Amino acid sequence: MGAWPALEPGWVWLCGAGPGDPGLLTLHAVNALRQADVVVYDALVQAEILDWAPQAEHVYAGKRGGKPSAKQRDISLRLVDLARAGKRVLRLKGGDPFVFGRGGEEAQTLIQHGVPVRIIPGISAGIGGLAYAGIPVTHRDVNQSVTFVTGHDQSGATPQSLNWRAIAEGAQVLVIYMGMKHVDQIAAALLEAGRPADEPVAVVCSATTPDQRVLETTLGRMAADIGAAEMEPPAILCIGRSVLMRQVLDWQALMAGAAPRNLDPLNRGRPAEVS
Ligand SMILES: C[S@@+](CC[C@H](N)C(=O)[O-])C[C@H]1O[C@@H](n2cnc3c(N)ncnc32)[C@H](O)[C@@H]1O
Repeated sequence: MGAWPALEPGWVWLCGAGPGDPGLLTLHAVNALRQADVVVYDALVQAEILDWAPQAEHVYAGKRGGKPSAKQRDISLRLVDLARAGKRVLRLKGGDPFVFGRGGEEAQTLIQHGVPVRIIPGISAGIGGLAYAGIPVTHRDVNQSVTFVTGHDQSGATPQSLNWRAIAEGAQVLVIYMGMKHVDQIAAALLEAGRPADEPVAVVCSATTPDQRVLETTLGRMAADIGAAEMEPPAILCIGRSVLMRQVLDWQALMAGAAPRNLDPLNRGRPAEVS
């Protein structure tokens, strides 16, 4: 089995907690949870995950849930202070810390202050969350690339730095994080740039948790359908034909006894294993 790394006093381990289901924690994450003196966690970290660190102090540093928001710089400096106080610090973030998670900023601040860090990747919602909805983020008959996009920037607006026309023209499958707030603008920008209104879309809310909900819609209807179905963040939007694969791969529905809706949703007309 080999020796697992020791979380030494004065260190900060920056760790991804995955999209929600505690079963998606990595072994390195569990090893860290068992050793930490203090766990500084974000809003999207599920409460059961903290149960893996009963010995540690749990410090909330999130930006949701009606609780006061901590400023990013204050969080980073708090981590520095905890490390300098000789604590074994676990910084736990939803999904992967380096995917739309400000993990790079926090690690940079720690290193700038001379604090030793270890990075523990996690399963990102835009991959693992879609898998729980029965959507493969890549599929040979659909896409040879995938484009990950954030729906808002630091100011909270739709990112101005994004070239939506280029994205619309070039992205085979689009996976959008934090897209709910500006879903109307995102849909309008993609449609205006020529994406078809009947392109399949899935909206996966609270993926991998007991509250997971999935809405299947189209680019043209997505904004209205999200409102009508009262879909709430956190949510991943997936735009592209890979969404059709859910008709055969919705494994949670299959486990609950449902039959596959369509064994050949891409109309390949041949067995899947034949290339
Ligand atoms: C600040 S970003 C963090 C992303 C995270 N670092 C990751 O790799 O998944 C927060 C966004 O991630 C997405 N997200 C995170 N967890 C999710 C979940 N369980 N279900 C659906 N979307 C999720 C949502 O788009 C949410 O607004």
